[in-house]
Amino acid sequence: MPRLVVISNRVAVPTGDGSSRAGGLEVAVRATLKRHSGVWFGWSGKVAANRKATTQTIEHENHSYVVTDLTEEDYQEYYNGFANRVLWPILHYRLDLAEFSRRDLSGYLRVNEHFAAELHRILKPDDLVWVHDYHLIPLAKALRERGHANRIGFFLHIPLPPPDILTALPNHERLIPALCHYDLVGLQTDNDAANLGRYLTGECRLSSRDQRTFNAADRVVRIDTFPVGIEAAEFGRLARRAVRSPFVQEVRESLAGRAMIIGVDRLDYSKGIALRMDAFERFLAAYPDWHGRVTYLQITPKSRSEIQEYGEMEQEISATAGRINGSYGEASWTPIRYVNKAHSRTALAGLYRSSRAALVTPLRDGMNLVAKEYVAAQDPSDPGVLVLSRFAGAAVELAAAVLVNPYDSEAVAAAIARALSMPLDERRARHETLSRALAANDIKLWADKFLDALVRPRSAPNWLRPVSSLAIS
Ligand code: F6P
Repeated sequence: MPRLVVISNRVAVPTGDGSSRAGGLEVAVRATLKRHSGVWFGWSGKVAANRKATTQTIEHENHSYVVTDLTEEDYQEYYNGFANRVLWPILHYRLDLAEFSRRDLSGYLRVNEHFAAELHRILKPDDLVWVHDYHLIPLAKALRERGHANRIGFFLHIPLPPPDILTALPNHERLIPALCHYDLVGLQTDNDAANLGRYLTGECRLSSRDQRTFNAADRVVRIDTFPVGIEAAEFGRLARRAVRSPFVQEVRESLAGRAMIIGVDRLDYSKGIALRMDAFERFLAAYPDWHGRVTYLQITPKSRSEIQEYGEMEQEISATAGRINGSYGEASWTPIRYVNKAHSRTALAGLYRSSRAALVTPLRDGMNLVAKEYVAAQDPSDPGVLVLSRFAGAAVELAAAVLVNPYDSEAVAAAIARALSMPLDERRARHETLSRALAANDIKLWADKFLDALVRPRSAPNWLRPVSSLAIS
């Protein structure tokens, strides 16, 4: 296996105290690098004070972490601007929240050029290059322009909407076709892959018989589905140990015998947290028998706080939690515990195992690993119930969860009631099916399947016609 060079905006540089962040992308890449030695390249997470961005290499257990700073301008235009105020909402089907500016687009392209220039110094001709997520769509093009003929793969961790939405992205014709400079583009679900296929056929007029292999000027680009998994068995073991930790014991004692419902999400509008709280309120209104017998713990670390929508959402959610607690709470019972503090993986694993139900109700999500971790953390003899949005990528594999439409608060309220009173036999049967789905697509398989597909010979099937009319920008 050639050296693996992974590139993403965030890099989980080991901190030594176990406190590195653990978003879905970082969890997946970290698990991959446990099995392949290589380099992880990306943003250091630091904003250089004086326009002097430095690049640093940290060696740790067979891996090199190469991280580069951003200038204040880069940070505003590339990260807060184009990546998170334009691409993030549009790829999550939220055209109403996108705020496009040409300046942000040029900042985005500039940072991609900066990443390519830094990579140019370290890339070897036979390195296998794996680029992650929407921050870095044009990176392969920038590397090809510097002469790199390596196999380069791209994986999108978030959804890819249909062409009708994608074409509302200003300058989409400059950006999305740049995906054709990759050899392989991986997506979370067949729906995402089909959407990209339709874009490449309809907008770029690339020929394809199977909507998976496209002939793009001087290369064959393949698109395929690789749903991200988790280290299911390891997470289950972690949860078994974690319930005995003093922290989890303290939380369990504080419940005084009440059932716990858990939600864990980065503070983001795509997660549907305010609507979920509305649904919980409807549940309390419709099922008074549960008053005083259930506690909903919502753990929501703050995220991207400098972006206006995120600040507004923060206020809306805490006001909603406060209103519901004010209306329904008692001196001895708080219906919602709303916590912004980030918790360690161990603490979360123990809390998942201690919860009768989990509410994972994003309005749109690439995969959602909380759903998978909740399932992996359960005690098979007395498992909790996963209430899952049909709009999370995870719903494809986890169809045995209680699937809901997160926009329908009454239906979510009914699903909460159903989850809390579900008979043991049904919980066990659902959990067994869900566990089988997790085992069938462990994180090891995700990385292996992607990397196998990336190294596969790249000759074009003979039915592919060469492209004549479109130059891929
Ligand atoms: O999985 C989507 C993603 O945007 C990752 O790329 C990112 O690391 C994670 O969510 C957290 O977001 P951020 O890096 O903006 O805090």
